[in-house]
Amino acid sequence: DAYTCIIAETRGRVATITLNRPEALNALNGALVRELIDAATGFDADPGIGAIVITGSAKAFAAGADIKEMAEHGYAEMLLGGPFPGWVGFERLRTPIIAAVSGFALGGGCELAMMCDIILAADTAKFGQPEITLGILPGFGGSQRLPRAIGKYKAAEMILTGRMMGAEEAERAGLVSRIVPADELLAEAAALAETIASKSLPAVIAAKDALQAAQEMPLAEGLRFERQAFAAAFATEDQKEGMRAFAEKRAPEFRHR
Ligand code: HXC
Repeated sequence: DAYTCIIAETRGRVATITLNRPEALNALNGALVRELIDAATGFDADPGIGAIVITGSAKAFAAGADIKEMAEHGYAEMLLGGPFPGWVGFERLRTPIIAAVSGFALGGGCELAMMCDIILAADTAKFGQPEITLGILPGFGGSQRLPRAIGKYKAAEMILTGRMMGAEEAERAGLVSRIVPADELLAEAAALAETIASKSLPAVIAAKDALQAAQEMPLAEGLRFERQAFAAAFATEDQKEGMRAFAEKRAPEFRHR
């Protein structure tokens, strides 16, 4: 894994992927996206990993897709995935992914954060979909995920004007789960990831699947999905252990974690 645009590391059951193109504010070029998807897919396949943190630098989570790289591309090239194939696989990973955002999360950077399960923001975080100022529109899911996250009307203002919003506004709007001081962001993200990674992995995967279903399915279908997933949880050893531990007033020793 000789990555050049990211740093991938593990500590216990938590994996961290740090976007690392400081010269371009972590702009997502083809090489970075391929490395990110490769690393995330590898961690997802490892049952020893229970949560993944994706982060950037203090100044930028990611300032968007690499404008210089895509500037001269045409329709067919972009339709065929252009420099950015593989997001569909990323969106289907089982492991919970936390975006730890400091500084700019713009365009594809904001969209990458929204592909994650939880967005934790430093007080310096700035979110936006500035594509309209470049003569394009969001292309990594922003036009669909932002309205689902913050509502149609606020999303329309963001996407049609390209203005940024700070961490406070993003938290009020429901885009981020929590704001933490910038110098505590990585520690907070790691603590959050460790908490998730300490739970039963089958239960965590089922819960992530159900949350995804909530974004993708009509209510009745999502409720049916949940009913089946909930019943299926009772086929796991970890459910027996979790409930026995509760009754015996002790911490559970999950087998799958
Ligand atoms: C390529 C980028 C970049 C980007 C920054 N850089 N963002 N290069 N693509 N998205 C480069 C700059 O060119 C510059 O390189 C260096 O990073 C530092 O950036 P500055 O602009 O000098 O920094 P600053 O003045 O602090 O301004 C920060 C900023 C600005 C406000 C974030 O960089 C900016 O507006 N960036 C573009 C944001 C954007 O429009 N993103 C959406 C992209 S479209 P040099 O070599 O000059 O020092 C998109 C579509 C997604 O994401 C879907 C695609 C399919």
